[in-house]
Amino acid sequence: MPAQEVRWSSMARSVSVVGGGVIGLSIAWRAARNGWSVKLYDPSIGSGASWVAGGMLAPLSEGWPGEESVLELGSASLDRWPEFGKELEAGAGVELFTSESSLTVALDGADAEDLRTIAEWVGAQGRELQILNRAEVRALEPMLGRGVRLGLLAVDELAVDNRLLLQALQRCAVDAGVELIGEAVHSLDRLDTDQIVVTAGIASPALWPGLPVRPVKGEILRLRSRPGVTPAPGRTIRGSVHGRPAYLVPRADGIVVGATQYESGNDTQVTVAGVRDLIADAEALMPAIGEYELRETSAGLRPMTPDNLPLIGRVSDRVVVATGHGRNGILLTPVTADATVALLEGSALVEAKAADPERFEKVAR
Ligand code: GLY
Repeated sequence: MPAQEVRWSSMARSVSVVGGGVIGLSIAWRAARNGWSVKLYDPSIGSGASWVAGGMLAPLSEGWPGEESVLELGSASLDRWPEFGKELEAGAGVELFTSESSLTVALDGADAEDLRTIAEWVGAQGRELQILNRAEVRALEPMLGRGVRLGLLAVDELAVDNRLLLQALQRCAVDAGVELIGEAVHSLDRLDTDQIVVTAGIASPALWPGLPVRPVKGEILRLRSRPGVTPAPGRTIRGSVHGRPAYLVPRADGIVVGATQYESGNDTQVTVAGVRDLIADAEALMPAIGEYELRETSAGLRPMTPDNLPLIGRVSDRVVVATGHGRNGILLTPVTADATVALLEGSALVEAKAADPERFEKVAR
């Protein structure tokens, strides 16, 4: 083993994780379980994009020709989710999974064509999506609108309750020995551990200049069931309404409706127009949605990169980054934790190769 690797793998056993969303917490948990002494810094652990998220895990039905690396990374993480989730459920005594499959529906001919394109391309990548006709869609989800023409069923695309996930990760991290520190880190220089992992979402470029991460705002609604309402779908429903992507993700007590997408800096205010569009789009998918209680509106900032792949890699002898997960932070949590712990220990996870930040020139090694 080269000298440098010996230093990372057998001597450097303390690490600071900067950022306490799902990515930071899962890395902290897994590193602590592997024997690392871990400090996790965040002034508001478990908030931000992880708190606002919908929790659908949909790498196949969100795939598109040309995005092979995104599909590969997402699939590698989806494959890890059942075991990863079960461990957290056992450790924290919660039920994380809220649905076991996803159904993308087409409301017009162009959408139907897109669904056929996705099914064919995903099939060519060795994964399966099933095309359902109108009658099959209605048999599966009778509460969907009559305008639905075609469906795309992903039988193993799960969904999780992101807030229970945050709770479970915190519990398992603390049980594994992680020290949670409710402080902001403005400079990596003040940290005293052997290694550092930057998991700070949109704040990451302030800690490691040159990281190509920008905020993309997303608004979301949380609806609660009421006595006698039309039952929620049994699986995640996705669709495109007037060109806007919309989704309904089941929860134990209702439905999460998402999500708008704007490039407007660090603004996290919920707008009237955002809520109006989300309600209209949700109603096009499921006409009875208006029967539900509108319990919460919220907005988060997705940490996006230019190519929709995250940044997971070593940027110096002491610093690893795991950030820029964009719309896929919850999906990519297990593979990111595995890849980052591998990096800390001097190796690399082949499935995460495409996420290496060295693909961008400005990120120094
Ligand atoms: N994860 C879905 C979204 O960002 O809207």
